[in-house]
Amino acid sequence: MKKSLLLLLCISSSCLAAEPLAERQIEIRALVQNTCGGCHGVGLDGGMGPSLKPEALASKADDLLITTITNGRKGTAMPSWKATFNADEIAWLVSTLKSGK
Ligand code: HEC
Repeated sequence: MKKSLLLLLCISSSCLAAEPLAERQIEIRALVQNTCGGCHGVGLDGGMGPSLKPEALASKADDLLITTITNGRKGTAMPSWKATFNADEIAWLVSTLKSGK
């Protein structure tokens, strides 16, 4: 009984949405344009790395994208970003890229 009540509270409040603070969101967006953009293209529409636009990411699973950003991809130029972003930030970044917002 108690457990399900807690779960309900958790779903209805912000438990699931561990978004970075507004200031950090601005920092992350700038970093993505400047740093990721170096490989993924100005505007992230593809360069040496693939496009990160919503159309390009729509069919890709969140988990795959999160794992790629977290650990990089061995044998490719895609580096790991876990020293730069924490897990919540990477999850937020993936949903932001996918939504194009
Ligand atoms: C040094 C170049 C480089 C930088 C910098 C870089 N990437 Fe990548 N990234 C790549 C390459 C190359 C691939 C494709 C890897 C492959 O062949 O599977 C890739 C793949 C990805 C993918 C998987 C896309 C897909 O369609 O499966 C995501 C997501 C991604 N990068 C996000 C980022 C983000 C976010 C940043 C910045 C924080 C970043 N990358 C910075 C080179 C880079």
